[in-house]
Amino acid sequence: MKTSYVLAIAMSTSVCVGGIAYGADATADTTTDAQKASLHKTIETCGVCHGVDGRSVSPTFPNLAAQQAPYIELQLKAFKDQSRADPDAQAYMWGMASQLNDATISALAGYFAAQPAASGRGGNSALIAQGKHLFEEGVPARQIPPCATCHGAHAAGLAVFPRLAGQHAPYLLKQLLVIQSVLRTAPVMHGVIKDLTKDQMQAVVAYLESI
Ligand code: HEC
Ligand code: HEC
Repeated sequence: MKTSYVLAIAMSTSVCVGGIAYGADATADTTTDAQKASLHKTIETCGVCHGVDGRSVSPTFPNLAAQQAPYIELQLKAFKDQSRADPDAQAYMWGMASQLNDATISALAGYFAAQPAASGRGGNSALIAQGKHLFEEGVPARQIPPCATCHGAHAAGLAVFPRLAGQHAPYLLKQLLVIQSVLRTAPVMHGVIKDLTKDQMQAVVAYLESI
């Protein structure tokens, strides 16, 4: 998808997201039909890029299905307050998130977290084996801890530690690069991967996409 095309969609749809902020006056235990309908419309907007079921077709757009809800919430708030500031975050997500209130953010996180995960896609088996080893054992010689320590043995994530399993490899590689260069602020991760080489990144993302 061409960037200009996507931006045109983003700009035209953000107006609609803004008009239908979900839950602005919701009371504790009632969700009106109008609120449900407006949440549904917002999900359709997100779905243009991420897939309505959270499983995106293009590797530019991360899968959101089965992602940890607290992580999704944290990221939407980081886009909204512009603290997640890598170029694609600015280009695609700042406008989107600026239109969302806390109740909508929480409802969207719950919705996408509940969708069935994308299934893994196979690839170069030697690279995948190398990436699995790195994920499970880290690189002791470079003081890189096992990724599994925080992201979980099967990369399913937990709370604010994101799920990585089944995610598009090009998206994950891009994130490792922007985190390493501190274009995306992620203090814990930055320290962990500061000495990870590009070859090691390519191996670990091939593994993660495959599971
Ligand atoms: C125009 C395309 C587009 C639309 C529409 C869009 N997104 Fe995104 N989204 C992206 C891109 C691209 C990224 C990756 C940004 C980056 O690389 O930092 C992203 C990243 C995210 C992330 C971070 C994922 C992660 O693994 O860290 C979340 C959460 C997210 N979007 C939620 C949403 C929600 C909710 C909506 C609807 C309100 C939405 N997006 C609408 C393109 C889009
Ligand atoms: C000490 C805990 C910890 C370890 C070890 C760790 N991570 Fe992370 N990782 C995190 C946290 C926390 C985040 C979320 C950062 C944020 O909120 O922006 C993250 C985010 C990520 C992201 C971005 C995901 C997305 O959807 O945008 C990738 C990719 C990633 N980690 C890969 C790895 C790899 C590969 C390793 C092993 C080399 C690793 N992590 C080791 C804690 C850790």
